Amino acid sequence: MFGGANLAADKIFSGLGANGIVMRRQLLGVLFSFSVCLNLAAVAQEKAGPPWWQHAVFYEIYPRSFADSNNDGLGDIKGITSKLDYLHWLGIDAIWLTPMFPSPQVDFGYDVSDYENVDPHYGTLADMDQLIAEGKKRGIRIILDFVVNHTSDQHPWFIESRSSKTNPKRDWYIWRDGKSAGQPPNNWTSLFGGPAWQLDPAANQWYYHYFYAAQPDLNWRNPEVETAMFDVARWWYRRGAAGFRLDAVTNLFEDPELTDNPLVDHQINAYGDPVQQEIHNLELPELHGVLQRLRKVSDEYDGVLIGETWTDTLDQLKLYYGQYGNELQLPIDFRFFAVGKISAPEFRKQIADAESFEGQPVYVFSNHDEPRQYTKYGDGQHNDQIAKLLASLYLTLRGTPIMYYGEEIGMENNDPKTKEDVQDPIGKLGWPKDKGRDGERTPMQWNAQPNAGFSQVKPWNPVDALYKQYNVEAERRDPDSILNYYRNLLSLRHTNPALLDGKYVALNQDDPNVLAYVRSYAGKYVLIVLNMSGSHQAIKLDLPSKDISAKSSKVLLASFKTPKRGNINKIDLEPFGAYIAQLE
Ligand code: NOJ
Repeated sequence: MFGGANLAADKIFSGLGANGIVMRRQLLGVLFSFSVCLNLAAVAQEKAGPPWWQHAVFYEIYPRSFADSNNDGLGDIKGITSKLDYLHWLGIDAIWLTPMFPSPQVDFGYDVSDYENVDPHYGTLADMDQLIAEGKKRGIRIILDFVVNHTSDQHPWFIESRSSKTNPKRDWYIWRDGKSAGQPPNNWTSLFGGPAWQLDPAANQWYYHYFYAAQPDLNWRNPEVETAMFDVARWWYRRGAAGFRLDAVTNLFEDPELTDNPLVDHQINAYGDPVQQEIHNLELPELHGVLQRLRKVSDEYDGVLIGETWTDTLDQLKLYYGQYGNELQLPIDFRFFAVGKISAPEFRKQIADAESFEGQPVYVFSNHDEPRQYTKYGDGQHNDQIAKLLASLYLTLRGTPIMYYGEEIGMENNDPKTKEDVQDPIGKLGWPKDKGRDGERTPMQWNAQPNAGFSQVKPWNPVDALYKQYNVEAERRDPDSILNYYRNLLSLRHTNPALLDGKYVALNQDDPNVLAYVRSYAGKYVLIVLNMSGSHQAIKLDLPSKDISAKSSKVLLASFKTPKRGNINKIDLEPFGAYIAQLE
């Protein structure tokens, strides 16, 4: 491994005479100890098994909407702690909390004004410590949302930065002169509408904000920003956080020349802005250096880094894993998320892509920015079956699933009915084309009591109308509920070696309706057959072409009534039925 380093050392030190020989010996000594350490680390890793996050199921919680412990209409940290037993019962290993830091809440917490505290709406640092400690008792780790691209305009760093052109923190953000009087520096637009530049009349300069004007972008070209942000990461790691979901990580750098972005064929978006190809302000290669250095910090604490990595191609996505696996362990594959219709060929293709290289795939179906899968994929007739089908897909694949709170009970999207009801600013601006994100952020449905047991007072965002039927309490009692299906599936996933570590082998690859595969491990096979159509299907598996011999299948879990033992030459599937079995 260090042969190359040895040769290089020969070259460098040969010109230095006797001193060179001593230095060379010292260097080789260091390299030798380093190599021994690496080998020991590898042995320790082998003994200890895979890293903790590799088998973990993650669960995203939007704190504002999960459980309200003090009955003010907003969820809070104590509320989450009170539900840890439920999450443990369900089979969750790690929670990703969306931002609970102090914030003016312009973007509901994604505008952070202090990275090392808790917003009083959600509680205190002591509450966070308690959540972390109680989670630990139940084997549930806490991942925080690290808003790395921007702060709030109320963050003391920005207040200082805007105070004068000569302030030492001026360069912590991106300030520029306008093109001409009243004209922003270039044509870049904000994702949330309008120009990505805000004029500060006092200094007659503009600052850059990819999101709201209240979210100025940090200048990651300034090393002081990196130091300050890495210190934040260390601070939370020392407090017991198990890792971070990195917000808007594709946005960290911009072209210093501020070259205008090309426009896309006269297209106009929901906010009335011309659509651009954002080639000068997204995915600049410099960001990977930051991620590699952050990974080193994270590794000191055995932490995990999840990336909000919106990418169009597999090659782009791969970059976020790093060349030697030295960037993010878990960059989210939003191309899987974007499939958007129940289609065996489409999902098959996405899985094949994710399986085509070493990195751990990361699968999500919905989150706090995107419509819930129950609504997005539901056909209005088989919604519950479809909810179980999708669960059966991403909870049996090799990779990391990130669930979104409430999907396990089949929560639907509940978009605002009128513009006046909208709370998310982009929903107000984009109405009715874009109704904003309130619909996927409704309160968790705990029971059939008023406000779905979320709070004793009117919640900040209305509870969905179907809560009397779809809630934790009712579904725990019903053995056929979506909730119990998730629970059984999670338990299977955690205990079956093939589901934990098995290789993915695609079956019946030309089938337009049924997605079938096995997870194979040490000569054992778990079969997964998913009917992605609204009609009955009967399939014969092409196992022999994969050198898999089996006589029958023993059902481990199915979303419809089926005999305990099956004939692998004819598996009958109900519409959108999911069938998981051990091959024997
Ligand atoms: C992505 C987050 O998921 C979203 O909710 C937020 O508005 C933007 N980043 C800006 O932080």
